[in-house]
This record gives sequence, structure tokens and C-alpha cells, in this order.
Amino acid sequence: MYVKTIELDHFRNYIHLTMDFHEKVNILLGPNAQGKTNLMEAIYMSSFGKSFRTSRDGELIGFTNDQARIKIGLVKEEEEFMMEINLRQEGKEIKKEGRKILKLADMLDHVYVVVFSPEDLRIVKDEPEKRRKFVDRELSLLKPVYYDDITQYKKSLMQRNALLKEKEVKQDLLDIWDDAMIKWGCRIIRKRREFIKKLSGISSTIHENITEGKENLEIRYDSDIPWSGGEEELMEMYHAILKKNRSKDIFRGTSTRGPHKDDLQVLVNDLDIRHYGSQGQQRTAALSLKLAEIRLIEEEKGESPILLLDDVLSELDSQRQKFLIQTLRDLQIFITATEISPELSSSLPEKRIYQVLEGTVKKEEYIPI
Ligand SMILES: Nc1ncnc2c1ncn2[C@@H]1O[C@H](COP(=O)(O)OP(=O)(O)O)[C@@H](O)[C@H]1O
Ligand SMILES: [Mg+2]
Repeated sequence: MYVKTIELDHFRNYIHLTMDFHEKVNILLGPNAQGKTNLMEAIYMSSFGKSFRTSRDGELIGFTNDQARIKIGLVKEEEEFMMEINLRQEGKEIKKEGRKILKLADMLDHVYVVVFSPEDLRIVKDEPEKRRKFVDRELSLLKPVYYDDITQYKKSLMQRNALLKEKEVKQDLLDIWDDAMIKWGCRIIRKRREFIKKLSGISSTIHENITEGKENLEIRYDSDIPWSGGEEELMEMYHAILKKNRSKDIFRGTSTRGPHKDDLQVLVNDLDIRHYGSQGQQRTAALSLKLAEIRLIEEEKGESPILLLDDVLSELDSQRQKFLIQTLRDLQIFITATEISPELSSSLPEKRIYQVLEGTVKKEEYIPI
């Protein structure tokens, strides 16, 4: 699928913008702080209904106005449709073809966007929370009901934690929140396990290609509820773990166990590179993971996602750049950068180049070399 048109009103530093994009490669060049990432953010909004940079929608509204609007025209399997997002300080409204979308989970099955930024290259060495976010975001896109599971789990976790902080903890109330955590938590664990297995298979093949067979990558689910048996066993085990840790949880005033503590193990040639890998290994593994994420969407949805490469190309050496671009030949790609090497530019035949300056975007009439 691809983005055909965009129209922005008072979104970030864009007062008004209307433009169309190339079906394949769009390169957005410009100095820092001109609006390149803001444009990526607007495209991302059409998929997730929220930003990848902030959870506060208010920040997205232009400083000089009290509301903002994003309209994105898309093409998916020959079908054209429009996603519209209206942002106000009090809240937002999202529409597909003029029809309101009431829940975020209902939004997720229309537009598939993958964003790849320098932060993603650090995913292997960063704290577990980043890897959980990666899994959650991807799984929500693949299985929108997962987004509901996560939302419900987080609600139960918050309630349980609030209860644990009270002076006198009511045990019967705690039982109720234990049950809620187990109910939603088990759904999360099951889906994460299945997803990580698939992700590991695909990223392993990709990694082998990038490293020309030198490295073998494996992703393992480092679950806080270590379960390998059937459904019933998972529930029982989870229950037992919560019971066993109850007095510790009360003492600490927080839930110490559950899928909110999950992680991914990233093994290269059987060594956990979260702690032992070189920076180069960690980055290549991150690249493999990201490419696997794209392939998984293609496999499960039968549709290519739109890829946003925000400031990430300059962080990769030319060999990895080439690999990335070659592998992604069939996708619509947005590349932002302050500059692009002539070599890379000429390796991309089907493209359009734009200059981004102070919230305006101009098509390049000629291709700078
Ligand atoms: N809500 C907003 N209203 C107006 N301008 C904003 C808003 N949020 C960010 N900006 C401006 O956008 C610019 C940063 O844009 P960004 O897309 O991140 O830059 P880059 O081109 O480096 O990716 C900054 O100049 C910042 O002041
Ligand atoms: Mg930027």
C-alpha cells in the first residue's frame, strides 16, 4: 500500500500543506528542525492514530492554533481511501472515508506503517521496556485485538498497584485484580510467544543474509511467567507466582511479576548480545528485526507496509544501506536526511526528492549530485 496525498492544517510547524507522493521512494532533505520528522509523524498518525514521539496529542497542534487536521489519501489493493484525523486540545476524532472510528483498536487494520529511526538501532542494548514496546506495537498492528488485551491488562495492573499502596491492603480485592491480571496477561503471553517465534524465524534468515552466513540470530521470549506447556498450566503457573509473591508485592507496593516484566533475548551464535555483543552486532540484529517486522506484516496481511526511514540511513554503513534498500524494493519508502550520497541516490531509480524548509515542502526539479 502507499500514501498518495497528504493535507495538513496546523499540524506541528506546518500551517498548511498539500502534496502528493511517489509510489516508491520519497526522499525528504533539509537541515535540522525544518519539519522532516513532523511529516513522518503525520503519516504514522494515519496508521496508529497517535504519534511515535509523544503520547500527548496536544503537542501536535501548531503553536498558533487550537486545532489541527491531517488528511491522508491512501491506495491499498487498487482501492483509494482517505484517513482524516482532527486534533483538539480536548481530544481527537478519526475518520476513514468520512466515517468515525470509535476505538483505537478498530483503527489498526486500515493502514500499515513501520517507522525506523536511530532509536530502533539501539533496541538490542536498550532497556527491556523498549523491546516490549516494539513487540506491543507490532502485535497490535498484526492483531488489533491484542491492543485491547494490552489496554485491559494495563488497567488491571494500575488498579492492583493502587491497591498495593494502600495502608491496609484488602486481600479479597487483591484476589479480584489478580484474576483480571491473569485473564488479560495470559492472552498477552500466548500472543507474544507465537509472535516471537515467527519473528525469530524470519529475522534469522535475514540476519544470515546480511552477515553472509557468519552469524546466526535467534530471538527468544524471555517471559516473566516461564511457561512451556498448555493453556491450563499457564493460568495455574501465573496464579501460583502471584500468590507466592503477594507479600513481597504488598511490601514493595507494586506488582513485581507479570508480562509487564517480559523481555526478548537476542542471541547471536548462541551468545546473548544484549550484554555481550559489539555495537556493530547489536545494530545488525536490530536491522534484521526491523526487516523481519516488515516481512511479517506482508505475510500476515498480504499487503506491504509503508516504511518511514527517519534519519536512519546516515547511521548505517554503505553496505548495510545497500542491503536495506535492495531488500525493500517493493515498498513505498520515505527517507529523511540532511543529505544523501550521490551513490545511494543513483541506486534508487524510482524516486522523488523534496526539500523541507521551515514547514514547507518543495519538489526538487533536478536531482542534485
Ligand atoms: N506544535 C508545534 N507547533 C509549531 N511548531 C512545532 C510544533 N512542534 C514542533 N515544532 C517545530 O518543528 C520543528 C522540528 O521539526 P522536526 O520535524 O522534528 O525537524 P527535522 O526536520 O529535524 O526532522 C522545530 O522547529 C519545532 O519548533
Ligand atoms: Mg528529524
